[in-house]
Amino acid sequence: MVSRPSRRRLLTGLAIGAGGMTAGGLIGGSVAGRGVEPAVAAQPAPAGGSPVPATGDHQAGIATPADPQPYSLTVVADVASPDVSTFAPVGDRLLEFLADASYDTGDLTVAVGVGPRVVAGIDGELPGAEPLPEFVSDAELATDRVGGDVLMIASASDPAVLPPAVDALLDALPGSTQRWRQFGFRGPGRDGIVRNPFGFHDGIIVPRGADELAEHVWLRDDPRVAGGTVAVVRRLRTDVAAFNRLAVDEQEAMVGRHKADGAPMSGGSLRDEVSLTAKTADGQYLTPLGSHSRSAHPALTGSALMLRRGYAYAEGDEVGLMFVCFQRDLRTFVVTQQRLDEQDRMMEYVTATASGTFLMLPGFDRDRPLGSTLLTPA
Ligand code: HEM
Repeated sequence: MVSRPSRRRLLTGLAIGAGGMTAGGLIGGSVAGRGVEPAVAAQPAPAGGSPVPATGDHQAGIATPADPQPYSLTVVADVASPDVSTFAPVGDRLLEFLADASYDTGDLTVAVGVGPRVVAGIDGELPGAEPLPEFVSDAELATDRVGGDVLMIASASDPAVLPPAVDALLDALPGSTQRWRQFGFRGPGRDGIVRNPFGFHDGIIVPRGADELAEHVWLRDDPRVAGGTVAVVRRLRTDVAAFNRLAVDEQEAMVGRHKADGAPMSGGSLRDEVSLTAKTADGQYLTPLGSHSRSAHPALTGSALMLRRGYAYAEGDEVGLMFVCFQRDLRTFVVTQQRLDEQDRMMEYVTATASGTFLMLPGFDRDRPLGSTLLTPA
């Protein structure tokens, strides 16, 4: 069964993480260095948010910060040569960008992943070497929106810092060509729980804290990829207008949770799990058949938990979800998506317009360049 998050462990982890290498000192230094009046320097934390350590066992922007930053820019590109050694300068370029005093990079994170062509070039058995299968729900997907060699997910409290950060990192990749990019945003929330484009609380049942992340998200068996994870990115257009024309109780029957407070229809409050067995007096499941929470539930898919960390997007009249999830085994996503395609009524209002899977590279630092572990002998 899915275990409950430990808030205390999460907070302790963050406090320890904050002691690592950050751009915080640089920001403080640059303010003082420019002779800013003490009254201004003593203002509360800048709007750009507090720095997130970029180096360590895992890349930032996957599980840190625990509450994702409000804005994101997701980019998928191809590289001229699918050689993982070309990714090493990207990590260095990120550290340079974070230290660049001409930007307030705040809580900027950029998580970098490599596509199946790059991973399979090293070893076809490695996690991330396998592309996604074609799903029934992929009918509208253009071929140039499927797959890709590089994924970058940049996130920050200040959206202005996202394009220059991503462009600097793409410049560090020789001959890279962009396939697509999507800007995203998240409403105010807590502990990663925000309302999604359909207006429902999202991000409730996800692995939290070091133990659950170790169990469900971080790769560990092969030292070449240990500390990385397998990502799936899906750009999902949502027919919000049609969904909102449904009565709220009909919407709730499709989600399996109440719209007002996110509580399961089977009882309890926001952070509680849905019950798959509880029934009404006349024998109907309280978490309805065909609801998203039921269809996606790991107990029914036989899969582990996935770390979902999506962002909403809006482009003209189009509204959607930049869905992203991280897991140790691609199968976790695949069997869940197959089940959604078979029986999830909410998915009638969702259309995939881009899709791919990527190996999020293990964490890095100045001595262990991004992607370098992949090149060590098996
Ligand atoms: C536009 C598309 C989607 C929307 C609006 C959406 C919305 C939601 C909502 C409201 C919940 C309940 C709250 C929560 O546990 O966070 C949820 C749960 C979940 N969703 Fe989605 N979702 C979407 C797509 C997907 C996709 C593509 C997958 C994976 C293939 C997925 C997997 C899950 C899982 C695993 C849960 C937790 C179920 C549980 O254990 O109770 N979702 N989603």
